[in-house]
Amino acid sequence: MTEHQDRARFTAMTEGTQQDWDIIGGHFRDFARALPARVLTHLKLLEGDFGGFPVDRLEHSLQTATRAHRDGRDEPYVVMALLHDIGDTLGTYNHPEIGAAMLRPFVSEEVHWIANTHGVFQGYYFFHYLGMDRDLRENYRGHPHFEACAEFCEKYDQAAFDLAYESAPLSFFEPMVGRVMARPINSIYAKAAE
Ligand SMILES: [Fe+2]
Ligand SMILES: [Fe+2]
Repeated sequence: MTEHQDRARFTAMTEGTQQDWDIIGGHFRDFARALPARVLTHLKLLEGDFGGFPVDRLEHSLQTATRAHRDGRDEPYVVMALLHDIGDTLGTYNHPEIGAAMLRPFVSEEVHWIANTHGVFQGYYFFHYLGMDRDLRENYRGHPHFEACAEFCEKYDQAAFDLAYESAPLSFFEPMVGRVMARPINSIYAKAAE
């Protein structure tokens, strides 16, 4: 491979220079700016994926977010509602953790906790049909965010399978995702990203 003036010159990081990292930092800023677009592209993978449910996973996501928005939730919460199941494609056995990890730099600890733990709380509505314990969420009883997570599932997540509901389109949420993911508030890179 030939050297490129817009790329770092080191062969190992031990050889890195300030100039190298200025180049990489410049690229990172562009890459980070395009994060919301990449996230939305990935969210669209849920379109047409019904998994036996009455609505596909994208419509479920839009409906969860729309219900939260119309109920007066703030933008980080609504974006969490939109992305709470984005991990379904790659995290088939642990999807809540995928979305939660993506949201973590941009939302409060409570909103992150809701995303990360919603699977167990949502199970209250169906685990008993799968031979599982619907009260698994009781393991978290007394946790400071227990009620908030139970409320998310009750009001928005478990209710978002209605074919007749008029959800806002993905374009409605795009600017919101852009604003919430514009700047990390909780990341070891928060200062470097300024
Ligand atoms: Fe989920
Ligand atoms: Fe969901």
